[in-house]
Amino acid sequence: MEFSYVNHTQIHFGKGQIASIKNSISPNDKVLFIYGGGSIKKNGVYQEVVDALSDHAWVEFSGVEPNPTMETLDKAVALVKQEGVNFILAVGGGSVIDGSKYVAAASLYDGAGWDILEGKHSPKSALPIGAILTLPATGSESNPAAVITRAATQEKLSFYNPIVRPTFAVLDAHVMKTLPERQLANGLVDAWVHVCEQYITYPTGAMVQDGYAETLLKNLLILAKDFDNRDNDAWRENLMWTANQALNGLISVGVPQDWATHMIGHEFTALYGVDHARSLTLVQPSLLRHQIEAKRGKLEQMGKNVFALNDSETLAEQTIDAIEHFYQSLNLETRFKPEGEDKTNSIEKLMAQIEAHGLTAIGENQALGLKEIREILNAVIL
Ligand code: NZQ
Ligand code: ZN
Repeated sequence: MEFSYVNHTQIHFGKGQIASIKNSISPNDKVLFIYGGGSIKKNGVYQEVVDALSDHAWVEFSGVEPNPTMETLDKAVALVKQEGVNFILAVGGGSVIDGSKYVAAASLYDGAGWDILEGKHSPKSALPIGAILTLPATGSESNPAAVITRAATQEKLSFYNPIVRPTFAVLDAHVMKTLPERQLANGLVDAWVHVCEQYITYPTGAMVQDGYAETLLKNLLILAKDFDNRDNDAWRENLMWTANQALNGLISVGVPQDWATHMIGHEFTALYGVDHARSLTLVQPSLLRHQIEAKRGKLEQMGKNVFALNDSETLAEQTIDAIEHFYQSLNLETRFKPEGEDKTNSIEKLMAQIEAHGLTAIGENQALGLKEIREILNAVIL
């Protein structure tokens, strides 16, 4: 185990914490208040933010879409430059927070913002970001990652840079009350797959990382079993905190990571508009079955410690079945049926993007090349 670990995002957790942003942003800062399609206007969050910003100069930018696009975000970059903004306040789910990371870095760069996604520019500075989370799922509120779509070319790429990790994040679970069932299930499953990507690799005997990952997975199983009784503070708070901890960088320190499900999943979202979490449940069970020998040790450990399955020769197989049933219990699909397109066309379209994005050696062992990904897609697509 060798690592350096820091997570400098200050978390303000609980009811009424939106008001605390007043003290977390310097009074001299000019703020860009950036949000999505308007859910915050329906649930009172917009007004709470306006009240909290009463001592600050601020401008607003709305319309960041789910799976945020470069095309929309570049308009926010122009606004930042024009208005002399020096602090970004992102109010929304992963899409708004990811989008704000792009805006924070692209605003201090003279070239095209997309260069950051293509790795042609590695930002050394970015405007500071504060996040008010309205949808627990991605962990973006306290991590250094962002996933951005270029609509023109149907590409969805990510970048990681510690300079875009938010300085603070407000996690008030009351704002989740207006979340539709679909988004709550998505959030639960996205957090689950985040833990899996950092856990279902090969055993290294990392007791802290494994033990905490198993706790987070068990939490998510309990919350899913209790999904019908979700209208209470404890359920919401536990999901919000679990999803945050699932991808705040802690459980991945010093251990191998996979992320192949996410990389392949992003191509389904970019080409077919599948919700992020739903792209993961399409890919992951087939990917795990394909990689079962390499992952057998961790799958067996997960079977015992998370699903409480008995030891047996087929424990790894049973664990994958249990994961698939977990998704199905929340009404998420684990196979993809392209509409108005046959299976071969769909595979070819996805493979062309996968190749263009250089996904030729992914997974914890770099064992998934184009041949292996094609085999997985063949199992995923009906
Ligand atoms: O835009 P508004 O009107 O706010 O509506 C949103 C959106 O339609 C709505 N919503 C959010 N909070 C709400 C609410 N509706 C009612 N009440 C509330 N309190 O929910 C819809 C989906 O929002 P979105 O932000 O897109 O969802 P999510 O948080 O799942 O984010 C998904 C994006 O994050 C990326 C994904 O690829 C996707 O682009 N990811 C980011 C990661 C990261 N930064 O670390 C990791 C993840 O693996 C993921 O890839
Ligand atoms: Zn995810």
